[in-house]
Amino acid sequence: MVFAPRVEDKGTAAFILHRQMNIESQTVHDTTYGGAIHVSSSNSDHADSAVMTIINKYGCDQRNMLPLLHELQAEVGYLSPEIMEAVAERLGTTVGQVHGVATFYSLFSTEPKGRYVVRLCDSPPCHIEGSKAVLEAVKAELGISEGETTEDGMFTLETVSCLGLCGVGPAMMVNDDVYGNLKPEMIPHILAGYREEN
Ligand code: FES
Repeated sequence: MVFAPRVEDKGTAAFILHRQMNIESQTVHDTTYGGAIHVSSSNSDHADSAVMTIINKYGCDQRNMLPLLHELQAEVGYLSPEIMEAVAERLGTTVGQVHGVATFYSLFSTEPKGRYVVRLCDSPPCHIEGSKAVLEAVKAELGISEGETTEDGMFTLETVSCLGLCGVGPAMMVNDDVYGNLKPEMIPHILAGYREEN
């Protein structure tokens, strides 16, 4: 996991960091399952070739679960029951264990979400720095409340506990982009950038 500067605005002392998930490709010699696994055509259309390519890239070592889930989430947007079933089969574990990991970490989702997931820190250190006002600005800009998705399917808004950026609170993430030292007036400009991508 690498944090690298993306935008720096010295005038407002705000900065934006971009997080890159470095998930290395692995050469796998799978002796347990004799190579690649496949999901039957009766499973969800999420279990498509791209998903299976990712799953088959990893070995049957359960220590691969986190990077595997990260890559699947990045590809599909969420971890469907069919995907968790395929992961469990690949790693030689139970669907319950995969589901437990997928629901423990706030960065994973087992439900469909918007193209961009806005996660705003809701912990006390960020409260002190003004996260409530930032949250209200996000809600006003998107017209939704926490846990909701915009009608166009573009944004989902979530409040989460500490993002590990307490020193630069208020902090939020939009997918893998990380923002710190936020002020309410920055929110329209930040979100407009994502709208312009589409
Ligand atoms: S308390 Fe907000 S990022 Fe840690």
